[in-house]
Amino acid sequence: METERIGTDAASLARAAACLRSGGLVAFPTETVYGLGARADDAAAVRRIFEAKGRPADNPVIVHVAGAAAARALAAKWPARAEALAAAFWPGPLTLVVARDRTRVPDVVAAGGPTVALRCPAHPVAQALLRATGLPLAAPSANRSTSISPTTADHVLKTLAGRIDLVVDGGPTGVGPGLFGIESTIVDVTVAGGEMVVLRHGAIGLEELARFGSVVDRADRVTAQGERAQAPGALARHYAPVARLRVVAADRVAVEVADARAAARRVAVVTRVEVPAGADLVERLPADPAGYAAGLYAALHRVDDAGCDDVLVVAVPESPGWAAVRDRLRRAAVPGVL
Ligand code: TXA
Ligand code: MG
Repeated sequence: METERIGTDAASLARAAACLRSGGLVAFPTETVYGLGARADDAAAVRRIFEAKGRPADNPVIVHVAGAAAARALAAKWPARAEALAAAFWPGPLTLVVARDRTRVPDVVAAGGPTVALRCPAHPVAQALLRATGLPLAAPSANRSTSISPTTADHVLKTLAGRIDLVVDGGPTGVGPGLFGIESTIVDVTVAGGEMVVLRHGAIGLEELARFGSVVDRADRVTAQGERAQAPGALARHYAPVARLRVVAADRVAVEVADARAAARRVAVVTRVEVPAGADLVERLPADPAGYAAGLYAALHRVDDAGCDDVLVVAVPESPGWAAVRDRLRRAAVPGVL
């Protein structure tokens, strides 16, 4: 299969929609990262996502919908909390885990489980495809399993060229007002007590959710690979570059760089503050969480492209606004085999 890169003009989007309708695989931009889409009502099409990504079958995928009405149609139960959160944050980077209507959502989407994760993306290209197909679209991040998430069409092609039909090139994701370059916040609203259980940090922070009731944070439980967890994809080595990643204090950079160089290792530094010279590559990111998040994955892709052995990421602030960034860095830094 040859993967074609297409644009976002009306004819290209019509082609992408036709491909999706006939069971094909189309990568497209969302406001977080590129997703790898397939029609969610077709088990065979969704199985192709798992094959293309090399994704374990026990890791369910998120279903993208055009709006709350389409979400309700896939849920066996749609709690008042889901309605309130959807009204407040959709379209946007919030994924809601609700009870699955087994007659409408195939087992493969949910990895056989009782729930389904639903998200209404804000990106105009994602919205256009949802409207043009008139279908819910299953779409995990458009990368091979365990590699860095894609924020450009080039990143998608790096690991999925030859494995998918089309990539709709809508430019870099996460750049602009209301956009965020790391994956959506995932909230489970199936809990009987009515509390919101956060399974993955993202652009929508805990404080924002807390306006709608009590919040339980389960995102910090880094799970061992293979262990069945509540958000099974949130594995320890998810989002990891090939280079060995460590989070270090700014005042440790000089000595760590020197150590790496002494060991003849190529070393990169990813930072939002000024650091001493000496590394083989310095990726300077914006000092605000949204700007940093928008640039993080692209920086890590460049670190790998440059063939670095080590990447030192200067620690980010402990404040709530940085929770999603801290979460991805923590996961990427966990030592262990891929
Ligand atoms: O921003 C995003 O959410 C991006 C864009 C493409 O929409 N998508 C994304 O998908 O990050 P993926 O597959 O890379 O991550 C989905 C996460 C995984 O950790 C998966 O285990 C979890 O969502 N998940 C999916 N369905 C679930 C369910 N029913 N219950 C709990 N977790 C679920
Ligand atoms: Mg992913």
